[in-house]
Amino acid sequence: MLFRERIAESAGSSGPIILAADMPYTGKVVQDVTSMIDRMSGCVCALKMNFQLLLPLGIGQIKDITYAAHAKNMQCIADIKLNDIGNTNLATTSILWEAGFDAVIANPIMGPEALSELVCGAHTKNNGVISLCHMSSPEGAVSYEMPADGHPLYEKFLGWGLSAGVDGIIVGATFPDIIRDCKQRVKDDTDIFSPGIGAQGGSAKMSFANGTNYAIIGRTLLNSDNPAETAKSILS
Ligand code: XMP
Repeated sequence: MLFRERIAESAGSSGPIILAADMPYTGKVVQDVTSMIDRMSGCVCALKMNFQLLLPLGIGQIKDITYAAHAKNMQCIADIKLNDIGNTNLATTSILWEAGFDAVIANPIMGPEALSELVCGAHTKNNGVISLCHMSSPEGAVSYEMPADGHPLYEKFLGWGLSAGVDGIIVGATFPDIIRDCKQRVKDDTDIFSPGIGAQGGSAKMSFANGTNYAIIGRTLLNSDNPAETAKSILS
């Protein structure tokens, strides 16, 4: 089964929220993340891990986490915004796949050919690539709407992503009009992943209404006394 099919199946039973596991560093990363996985079981379809979580770990510890997530029907996404040359991108993803990740978030500024090569490599392992299109941060517009060939940069990134056959694009929930614009262009061929809900001010309801397929949420869940209930309430 392909990554897009696997995450859709998980979302079918657990809902379209992806947990961004940005918990504070306590020295017990595996314990902290696996305990959050247990608490969120049945309420999120995937676990997203960033650099700050991965840096203190070895591959064996990362495998402990991805194994625990898969056991709870969660896909595992490495949010490293990968952006290098072809051979080092492939060297990086081969370690991510070995560690149990199902998809990687990439930065298309690497260029359309390098992005295509990355996608081809991921698809040979049935894994996925999600490429940045428009970031959720307040400064997202400064960079991603910069003119490029007479169009905002995010349109260029969207085109490169679609040509490369990426599984998903990232469009911040803080820019619902851009989500709607991208949805009209990707139709159902590519999923839209939206961070920026809650803590960054974006609305889950508005994102889904405009075309988001998956909501990426960190602090709103991590800071909740009852994250499972909070996830349900975000969707209600
Ligand atoms: P919060 O706590 O704001 O966490 O719910 C959001 C999570 O999503 C990541 N993030 C992004 N990742 N493109 C990305 O690839 C973005 O535009 C973006 N905005 C936020 C952030 O790293 C955190 O894990």
